[in-house]
Amino acid sequence: MRSSAENEQRERLKCVVHPSADIASALAAAELATLIRRNNAAGRPTVLGLATGSTPVRLYRQLIRLHREEKLSFKNVVTFNLDEYHGLPRTHPESYWRFMHEQLFNHLDIPPANIHIPDGTVPRAEVFAWCRAYEEQIRAAGGLDVQILGIGRTGHIGFNEPGSGRDSRTRLVTLDALTRRDAARDFVGEANVPRHAITMGVGTILEARRILLLAWGEAKARVLADAVEKSPTDSLPASFLQGHPAVELHLDAAAASELTRLRHPWLVGTVDWTPAITRRAVVWLAQQIGKPVLKLLDEDYSEHGMADLLTEQGPAYGLNIRIFNELQHTITGWPGGKPGADDQHRPERALPAQKRVVVFSPEPSDDVLGMGGTLRRLVDQGHDVTVAYLTSGNLGVPDEEAAMAAELVIDLAGTGTEFAQTVRRQLGAKAAYESDTPEIRQLKGVLRRGEARASLQACGLAAARARFLDLPFYEQGRYRQFRIGEADIAAVAALLREVQPHQIFATGHSADPSSVPALGFEVLRRALALAAGEAWRADCRVWLYRGPDREWEPAEIEMAVPFSPRELTQKIQAIYHHKSQRSQSPVVAAGLHESWQQAEHHNRAIAGRYDALGLAEYEAIEAFRRWRES
Ligand code: F6R
Repeated sequence: MRSSAENEQRERLKCVVHPSADIASALAAAELATLIRRNNAAGRPTVLGLATGSTPVRLYRQLIRLHREEKLSFKNVVTFNLDEYHGLPRTHPESYWRFMHEQLFNHLDIPPANIHIPDGTVPRAEVFAWCRAYEEQIRAAGGLDVQILGIGRTGHIGFNEPGSGRDSRTRLVTLDALTRRDAARDFVGEANVPRHAITMGVGTILEARRILLLAWGEAKARVLADAVEKSPTDSLPASFLQGHPAVELHLDAAAASELTRLRHPWLVGTVDWTPAITRRAVVWLAQQIGKPVLKLLDEDYSEHGMADLLTEQGPAYGLNIRIFNELQHTITGWPGGKPGADDQHRPERALPAQKRVVVFSPEPSDDVLGMGGTLRRLVDQGHDVTVAYLTSGNLGVPDEEAAMAAELVIDLAGTGTEFAQTVRRQLGAKAAYESDTPEIRQLKGVLRRGEARASLQACGLAAARARFLDLPFYEQGRYRQFRIGEADIAAVAALLREVQPHQIFATGHSADPSSVPALGFEVLRRALALAAGEAWRADCRVWLYRGPDREWEPAEIEMAVPFSPRELTQKIQAIYHHKSQRSQSPVVAAGLHESWQQAEHHNRAIAGRYDALGLAEYEAIEAFRRWRES
C-alpha cells in the first residue's frame, strides 16, 4: 500500500491502527493526561465520559500508573459513566458501579462526589425523571470534554442498541439478544444477565467535545468496518459517530482487519502484489462473482480493479492455475506430515515421521471445538500427542452442575465426604450474584477436568495425555481482571522444555486481549521467547486454530484437514462430553445455539468454500494457519 489518503478513502471516521491494545491505550491515556494537566493548571475541571467492559481496562491501568508514578491528580476531574444494568445493586460483581471503583476510582484521588454512574436501582416509575436529571448534571458540569467508548458486536455505543436514534437521550433500554449472550460468560449463564439498562443516548454522546473509541480483537472487526465505511444508520448506532468533528478510533490490528484498506487493499489503492495479497485477491474475486478460480477471465480481473495484477502476473489463465495449486496444496489428511511422501508442497514436513505434538487449549473444550477432528487424526497417525489445558475453566461452570456433582460424591461415599458437603452447603448459601468460594471453584475445576478427559478419550487419546496446568492468572482472577505473570509463563515454558514438541497447536492470537484464549496465547508466546535458541525450537512449528465463533478465510489457510461425515460425527460426540458447557440460554429460532453446532457449521462452511472455489468437495474441514514470530 502506498498513499495513505488514497487507501483510507472509504473511511468516514478517523481510524488509527496500533501494534497492540497496550500501545493504543497508553496513547489515549497520554491524551487524557495532557488535558487534565492543562485544566488543572488553569484551575478548570476536566469532565470525562467513561465506559466499562473489557476494552477500557488497559486505559484505566495507564491512568492509575500516571497517577501513582507521574503524580497526575484527579482531584479536579468529574466523571460520567455511559451506562449501568438496570436492576443490579451496586454490590453485584457485574455492576458497572463496582467495576468502575475496582478498575479505576479506588486507585485515584478523585473525590467521590465527582463520580457519576447511572443508578441501576432507580424504580421503573422514576427512571425517566432520573435520566433527565443525569443529563442536567452533565450540562451543569459544562458538558463532556472527552467521551471514551467501546463498541459492542451489535454496533452499540453505551447500551444504544440497534434501533437507537441519532438524537436519543439518556434512557432505559432493552438489551439486544447478542449483547446479553456476550455478557453470559460474566454472569455464568445468559439467564442471569439483566434485560434492561440505563444508558446515555447517542445524542448525549455526540455532544462530547472529543470522542475516543477503542476496540480490540477480531470479534469487533466486522461491525467496526461497517460503522466506519457504511452510511450512518440506526441499525448500527456507532455509525452515528460519523460527522462528529473530533472523533478518533484507536484500534489494534485484529479489530481493524476488516477495513477495506487492510482486507481488500486493491479496491482502494496501489498494492504491492505480494504472494499473500495476490492469493487473497484472487480468492476474493472468485467468491465475489461466484466462479471457481480456474474459470476466472481476464475481464473479471480488470472489471474488479485488478488490472494491474494482470499486468504484473497475468494473463488470468496462468495466475488462476498458480493460485488453484496453492489452495490445493493446503489440503492434507496428514496434519502431522505424511511419512515417506515428497513434502515440498505439503503444509507439514514428512520427518520426523512420528512427531511430538502439544495442543494448547485455553480452557477445556477449546481443543475439541477448534480441532477435534485433527486431534483424532494426529493420534491415529501415531504422533505423540499431549494436550495442555492452560486453565481449569471453572468460572464457566453453572452452579447446578456443581450441585449435581456434590450430590453424586455424597451419594457414592455416604456421609464421610466432607469436601462435597462443604461445597453443597456453600452453593446453597450462595446469593445469585456472589463469587464462587475456592471450594466451589475447585469442584467446578474437577468437573471440567473430568469432561476434558472423557472428550480426549472420545478422540482416541488416553486421558493420561492430558496435562492440566491450572495457570495461576486464571485461578486467582475473574473475567476481565486476569493478569498474566511470570509463574504462568514459567509453567508453560517448563512443559515445552519437557516435551520439546515438533508441532504446537494453539488458539487466541487475535482474540480480545482480555479474553482467556488471548491471555493463553500471550503466555505461550512469551514462553516460546524464553526458549528461543534452544535446539528443539529450530524444528518446531506453531499452528493456529480458531474458536467456534470464527473460521479462517480460505485465502488465509495454510493447512486444511478434511473430514468424512463419520469423522465429523465423532468430533461432535467428543464435544458432547463437555456437558457443563451446554448453552444456558433459551433456544432462539434458527440460531446456532450450542458450541458444537457452531463448530459443525464452521467446519462445513470452510468445506463449502473450498468446493465453491473449484477444489474437491468434502463434508467438513478444520483449518489452520502457521504462526511465525516475525
Ligand atoms: C460499556 C459500554 C459498552 C461496551 C461494549 C464493548 O460501558 O457502554 O458499549 O463498550 O459493549 O464491551 P467490551 O469492551 O467488554 O467488549
